[in-house]
Amino acid sequence: MSSPKIFVTRRMPEPGMTILADSGAAITVCKQNESEGLSREELVDGVRGCDVLVSLLTEPIDRDLMMVNESLLGIANMAVGFNNIDIEAANELGIPVSNTPGVLTDTTADLTWALMLAVARQIPQAHSYMAAGSYKLWGPNLFLGGDVGPGASGVRKVLGIVGYGRIGAAVAKRALGFDMNVLAFDPYAREAIDGSDRASWADLAELLERSDFVSLHPLLTDETHHLIGEAELRRMKSTAYLVNTARGPVVDEVALVRALREDWIAGAGLDVYEDEPVMAPGLAELPNAVLLPHIASASNDTRGKMSTMAATNALTHLRNEPAANPVNPEVYDSAAYRRRTEGG
Ligand code: GLV
Repeated sequence: MSSPKIFVTRRMPEPGMTILADSGAAITVCKQNESEGLSREELVDGVRGCDVLVSLLTEPIDRDLMMVNESLLGIANMAVGFNNIDIEAANELGIPVSNTPGVLTDTTADLTWALMLAVARQIPQAHSYMAAGSYKLWGPNLFLGGDVGPGASGVRKVLGIVGYGRIGAAVAKRALGFDMNVLAFDPYAREAIDGSDRASWADLAELLERSDFVSLHPLLTDETHHLIGEAELRRMKSTAYLVNTARGPVVDEVALVRALREDWIAGAGLDVYEDEPVMAPGLAELPNAVLLPHIASASNDTRGKMSTMAATNALTHLRNEPAANPVNPEVYDSAAYRRRTEGG
């Protein structure tokens, strides 16, 4: 009997690759090189010939792609976000999908804070100034920015968290250490709000109006697409900063460029983009935007744990057992899943 086949779209960090190799399955890695993506043909060929697919958030896994393989046993996405996969189609076709939640919470919350501090205190600009040899004399007006903590005025800043799941809650926890007040908006109230009297729920309009920093952490869905557009940006304080480490399309990026250019808000720290890796025209030239290449979970430890989880999920799919981290657990009870796995 031939070995089962796992198709890995792009090489994962270790130890995920070794876990897969040690399983005895035949592993095909389409792209070894960090900077190279797959063509549609490569994706179709890979999915057609495998039992389990290991994907990254860069690969669009749509209905047509899933339909090329009637016996695909599962998709293990090495990311907590799964907006790259058509889950409705996966359910209809009986394909289990898994992700890598939990392990990247703290690392992503840390990077959110790095962006808040960087944009408010102009850290990248100040670094470039030093690197260019421009620093000749200490100046009282050099790189003046906003405070994150109460600062000299002693007035606590407000951090508004949109999407209060695991990551939103971890960002809020750090805010209390910075002596901030927290407002949280989440219609699904996915986590209990911190017991502190400095954290409370708010609706989106109130949060936008009262916050000094607005940090975005919702899942990307039809409901959260362009959740922050022109009207919402105009509601924010002109001294406030927007930070997005969730998914780019949560923000109308063209409206954001206008908001930054015309000083509706003070600045933005972005790790994600609406049409990643492309940026909206003008965004890269703005002095009040700090831009990162989607690295929120990029610590050695966390990426290693994500790869371990994705590899373990993939092997579980291969054995036809319920994955530890299912995105669509309902699929296991479906007739489509039974047809796919039992042939009827
Ligand atoms: C990163 O963006 C992830 O979803 O894991």
